[in-house]
Amino acid sequence: MNIGFIGIGKLGLDCAEVFAEQHTVFGYDIYPRTSDSVQICTTPKELVENSDWIFVAVPTPHAEGYDGSVPSSHMEPRDFGHHAVTEAIEYINTYANNSKRVVLISTVLPGTTRKYFIPLLDKKHQFVYNPYLIAMGSVKWDMVNPEMIMIGTEDGDETALAGELIDLYKTIMQNDPRYVVGTWDECEAIKIFYNTFISAKVGLANMIQDFAIKIGNINVDVVTDALAKSTMRIMGPKYMTAGMGDAGACHPRDNIALRWLAQEYDLGYDMFDTIMHAREIQAKNLAHFLIEQSEINNGLPIVIHGKAYKPDVEYCIGSYSTLIGHYIEEKGVKVTYLDPLADDPAGVVDSIDAAHVVLMAHNRHITYGYTGEAKDDVFYCTIPEGSVIVDPWRTIQNHEVDGVSVIHYGNTRHK
Ligand SMILES: NC(=O)c1ccc[n+]([C@@H]2O[C@H](COP(=O)([O-])OP(=O)(O)OC[C@H]3O[C@@H](n4cnc5c(N)ncnc54)[C@H](O)[C@@H]3O)[C@@H](O)[C@H]2O)c1
Repeated sequence: MNIGFIGIGKLGLDCAEVFAEQHTVFGYDIYPRTSDSVQICTTPKELVENSDWIFVAVPTPHAEGYDGSVPSSHMEPRDFGHHAVTEAIEYINTYANNSKRVVLISTVLPGTTRKYFIPLLDKKHQFVYNPYLIAMGSVKWDMVNPEMIMIGTEDGDETALAGELIDLYKTIMQNDPRYVVGTWDECEAIKIFYNTFISAKVGLANMIQDFAIKIGNINVDVVTDALAKSTMRIMGPKYMTAGMGDAGACHPRDNIALRWLAQEYDLGYDMFDTIMHAREIQAKNLAHFLIEQSEINNGLPIVIHGKAYKPDVEYCIGSYSTLIGHYIEEKGVKVTYLDPLADDPAGVVDSIDAAHVVLMAHNRHITYGYTGEAKDDVFYCTIPEGSVIVDPWRTIQNHEVDGVSVIHYGNTRHK
């Protein structure tokens, strides 16, 4: 059976290409896209007519300023936009002559599918909600090695379509994932609370880092390693290394949007605001630490090594580096960035020719270690003698770079 993808952007194109290794796959996007394996359709009609399965991976955008790359916890909470999903449903209603298997991937807040999308979709089509746990920079690997596959149906029962989708995934998986079938609303909730759980976990690990700095005689890694191995009561070790804050196109904005949901359902408290507020203050603390290092070292300028929200991708959306940069600039201090890929060139330099305070925001092993495919870390340029590296991941050793001292942020026992 032919597979179609409406929306072949950062997530959709790689996912479509993974399917195309085993199946015939079509893709349609409002922007021109190219692919060696996915057959690109020029109209939504062509896509719908050619596809038995229709995966919808269009954006559910947050409003400007709600991605987490600048402070937002003071702003009015808002839901994601649903316009593109509505358009995709309209294409299917308009151009389908027979019943389609519709699979919505896009991230939405709990309750959205039932309230906004199901009333729009023609009843002749079958529908499941199937969000992905996929991260930028490792989309194809994550797609075939997921922790779980979530399939949402109207009443949470495994429908015929859910069973067929599981069989379809079995043709491409490299691991043997859990398949979780729940209601649309449950799957929306699993996906978004998975993300916000990570933000909370990173926020806790970074809180310990803040205390390590303030109290002294504490290496945050000794504390978090001990907690991470405490599997009797606390969960596994992932995201238990203090360092940069949670970042990217999904996690910060999910918390920001959930602030809206907490208000909408009159929850009576807003944990997401607390998580985002903590993330912002943690960034501010690190920014002030960098300024302090600059002052101690005769006003060395500050550069952040890595502007994109993680190494090996260009995306500056939801970047923790720019959040730190914001707080440095708020103090009237200039900041530049080193990043050969960053899609936002503001303040990015190719190299530095004098000593700097260098924040090592990127660390490939921390970010991609779990895939087993992490490349070795490299400096984006020569780090001049007399520089001070602030390493929030604590993996660069003092003797590693000639004439450069290294501070392990979060380890106040480090010599
Ligand atoms: N990027 C990720 O890591 C990731 C992971 C999990 C879930 N998601 C979710 O998946 C969805 C898509 O994310 P993304 O990062 O790929 O976004 P994206 O903006 O990179 O890609 C979406 C694509 O859809 C296209 N599009 C918009 N309106 C369209 C329409 N009417 N018809 C056809 N194409 C249309 C856009 O041109 C774009 O290419 C979002 O809801 C996001 O939250 C993303």
